[in-house]
Amino acid sequence: MKKIGILHGQEDTYPQAFVDRVNEKAKKQGLNLMAEPVAVVKVEQGVPLDYAVIIDRISQDIPFYRAMLKNAALCGTSVINNPFWWSADEKFFNNCLAVKLGIPVPKTILLPSFNHPDDTNEKSLRNLKLDWNEMMNVSGFPAYMKPHSGGGWKSVYRLNDLNDFYAKHPETNQLVMLLQEEIVFDDYFRCYCLDRQDVHIMPYEPRNPHHLRYDSQVKAQGDAAKKLLATVKDYVLKLNVALGYDFNTVEFAVKDGIPYAIDFCNPAPDADINSVGQANFDWIVEASADMAIRRAQAQEFGKDNLTWGSYVRGNLGGEAAKPAAKTKVDAPAKAESKAKAEPKAKAETKKK
Ligand SMILES: Nc1ncnc2c1ncn2[C@@H]1O[C@H](COP(=O)(O)OP(=O)(O)O)[C@@H](O)[C@H]1O
Ligand SMILES: [Mg+2]
Repeated sequence: MKKIGILHGQEDTYPQAFVDRVNEKAKKQGLNLMAEPVAVVKVEQGVPLDYAVIIDRISQDIPFYRAMLKNAALCGTSVINNPFWWSADEKFFNNCLAVKLGIPVPKTILLPSFNHPDDTNEKSLRNLKLDWNEMMNVSGFPAYMKPHSGGGWKSVYRLNDLNDFYAKHPETNQLVMLLQEEIVFDDYFRCYCLDRQDVHIMPYEPRNPHHLRYDSQVKAQGDAAKKLLATVKDYVLKLNVALGYDFNTVEFAVKDGIPYAIDFCNPAPDADINSVGQANFDWIVEASADMAIRRAQAQEFGKDNLTWGSYVRGNLGGEAAKPAAKTKVDAPAKAESKAKAEPKAKAETKKK
């Protein structure tokens, strides 16, 4: 019997619901497979884990698991998401890719860390000849400053002006940050995307307290709303086909009818019933159970059962960049781092 495992940390609601749903479906459909939380007994090089599929919800926080999953993938487990790509990916690259795909993103620059990485000094950074005036003019102010590789709203700053930047950048210590144009939005969406084919668009209000953020409606009306949601779906699929994620959330801020991709590097997205609410929870449990079953049925031990994005396959924008034909979409429920000095005096700020 093939086994589907879920590897998770502190989350309580989604993993068990996923396991129960897979097992219910397997029983009802007479499938020769079952699901359980992954039990890690020993990790030895070149030795497979006893799972056809593993849904990884935690290796971003536990490096031991990331290494374990690479070995499991090499030995034939279909690991969701691809642990190699997840290790390589970060938000700045994501934005660069979106530019190449023609998907709107806020104007963004990459900032070297305020403090030197451990065991480096000025000399280590001698190739930096940054033009701070030019850099600050890209995003203008107000701006968002956030880690190039991060999540969970950690170290995300909204900066009013250049003085704010001077005050906050030192707090980021050795983090490499993005400095990004603020999108003052009318609508905001978080969109689950599974298997690069199933999209679930959730209106989201990030300005609400945490427990009320998913308690939101689409603000656009009529044909404008239809067109907007179709565009959002199209962008979600294109991004995930290019990146190669099986399980991801893409966020958009919508300004003047244009959806700007804000955050699309969420390979273990929030699926807690207490934050996403019952309807979204039911969708993700059902769709992820179906995906895991499909993958288990297709999986073959000893083969590569990972998903690779069209970018790493050298086919960005080609055939591989097209979403699968059969897609299912739910309408939504109703200073200079110490390395290189400080920005030169007053950079011009733009009005947004
Ligand atoms: N460029 C931006 N314009 C407007 N709001 C933003 C921008 N960047 C981030 N935000 C706000 O900050 C929140 C957290 O930023 P995000 O990029 O999603 O980081 P994280 O990966 O930590 O969730 C977003 O949900 C959004 O509300
Ligand atoms: Mg986010």
